[in-house]
Amino acid sequence: MCGIMGYIGTQSAQEILLNGLEHLSYRGYDSAGVAVQKENRLQIVKTRGRIDLLRQKCQDTPLDGTLGIGHTRWATHGPANDLNAHPHTDARGRIAIVHNGVIENHAQLRQMLTARGFVFRSDTDTECAAHLLRLLYDGDMLRTLLLAARYLTGSYAIAALCADDPSALYCIRSGSPLILGTREGESYLSSDIPALLPYTRELTVPEDGEAAVLRRSGIYLFSAKGQRRRAQTFHVSWDMQSAEKGVYPHFMLKEIHEQPQALHSPPIIRKLPARAPSQAVLLGCGTAYHACLLGAYYMERLAGIPAFPEIASEYRSRIAFPYRDCACIAVSQSGETADTISAARMAKARGAVLVTLTNTLGSTLERMSPAALLTPAGPELSVASTKAYTAQALALLQLALRWGRMRGTLQEALSEQQLLHLPHWAQEMLSSSSAIQAYIEPRADQPLFFFIGRGADAVTAREAALKFKEITYTPAESYPAGELKHGAIALIHEGMPVIAICTQPEWLHKTLVNLSECRARGAECVCFCLPHMEKDAREAADHVFVLPDMPPLLAPIISVIPLQLLAYYAACKKGLDVDKPRNLAKSVTVE
Ligand code: F6R
Repeated sequence: MCGIMGYIGTQSAQEILLNGLEHLSYRGYDSAGVAVQKENRLQIVKTRGRIDLLRQKCQDTPLDGTLGIGHTRWATHGPANDLNAHPHTDARGRIAIVHNGVIENHAQLRQMLTARGFVFRSDTDTECAAHLLRLLYDGDMLRTLLLAARYLTGSYAIAALCADDPSALYCIRSGSPLILGTREGESYLSSDIPALLPYTRELTVPEDGEAAVLRRSGIYLFSAKGQRRRAQTFHVSWDMQSAEKGVYPHFMLKEIHEQPQALHSPPIIRKLPARAPSQAVLLGCGTAYHACLLGAYYMERLAGIPAFPEIASEYRSRIAFPYRDCACIAVSQSGETADTISAARMAKARGAVLVTLTNTLGSTLERMSPAALLTPAGPELSVASTKAYTAQALALLQLALRWGRMRGTLQEALSEQQLLHLPHWAQEMLSSSSAIQAYIEPRADQPLFFFIGRGADAVTAREAALKFKEITYTPAESYPAGELKHGAIALIHEGMPVIAICTQPEWLHKTLVNLSECRARGAECVCFCLPHMEKDAREAADHVFVLPDMPPLLAPIISVIPLQLLAYYAACKKGLDVDKPRNLAKSVTVE
């Protein structure tokens, strides 16, 4: 939610900020803006809409200078218009800030500042921080920023420029991501790693509550009390191509096609506890929650470990029983999802051992967990999550196998050879994309889709429906197949697509009966099934897509791929912006 970028060095700040914001635009694309310092003056250009509009505006009014900040917005307070676009400044335009997060006490601050004569020009929570900095400014921007932070509640990563100080860029974070990077004569800041990859891979993450001063000579970190801390850098191995679309028209299609690679290697493990737990809680949001559902299935089925998947934002309202011998697995592609972070903190406080499963080294969740599993999926930039999901599902399966072996409770053997075959099955799946495209294109305007399945297939149905509504804006329901006739079957109408996923032999016939029930009521029925199920599926469905011949236990990791493609081609057919669906942002850093 919102992306911030900052630069100080020797090159044109405007160019570096615009390029960085383009990489960050998956975090929000309601408006964008930059501020560049030239000697003792701040120049600002901002606009409603996306980065290309900002680029156009900057072409008309080029900003000269080698120090600047930029922002791409996902609106929280106030509509997407020029006035609410960041950067925000104090009344005299001497201090400019960009902000990612939410200042929760903005109403009180606004009242206090208004009473002191400050005039607000926007509806944003951020503007109060700009005026607050002016109120507290004593000639030392670092001291002022640290002091201002004592008055701010909520989450924020703020970058600030001060016209009086042309040799430094300031920033502070609390609960929102902030990555700093440096190379000879230049320092950078950003909300995420991919925006920095063209410039540097030597990165630093300030601790929560810390501030940093970025100079041409390097990065200087300071605790909330103003004590200097030596910056520790880490190296990221993601390459530049992984953050570019390459030959693909969209990041989503590229990322769908990167799944064989994402399933190729196991997650990188950091300090997993030596003992397997006797129960597990799995926390996540959206697609990551669906990975939790699958993870819980594997924990119970493979390792005999009772496992409880929870939607992170709901988990917080659950009664707080203390845990004994329980692992909390927090699943998050970005590692920055506010609800997951809060829920993980709560589980930790209840006594669970926290294990983070993330795609993002250096993220908040990764850093707050004593143990972590890092998925090798590479940066995921399309708002709709695809490769991160399949990589999470595999990582959870591997964790279940590991814990099952440790406890001596492994219920069903899967050979290493079978796991090594996953990338091939993913590739095989991708080669059928034209058949999926041919099926969905004539139906892209259908008003409602149903996805059904049982057991692990019900999880795939949920993920398929989420992907579908997220990028096509078409209502899509997912139901455990057996649950349909308890109410939702009333929605079935003539020609409505009902898509069943059948990869679990024990549920095949029951699901096919449910599919026939839909067909009897006029639905157009589709079935995705394993090869040996094809004959039965053809009896119940109008269209059958045959998945690769793989063990049913591994099928949920692969069977989601054609359903990602289904959503993708439907969205393309409707002419929608696949990578940046409306109202959404990739990294949800507000609760
Ligand atoms: C859906 C999607 C979201 C995310 C969710 C959690 O395609 O991408 O539902 O899965 O916002 O994000 P992370 O995994 O970053 O915690």
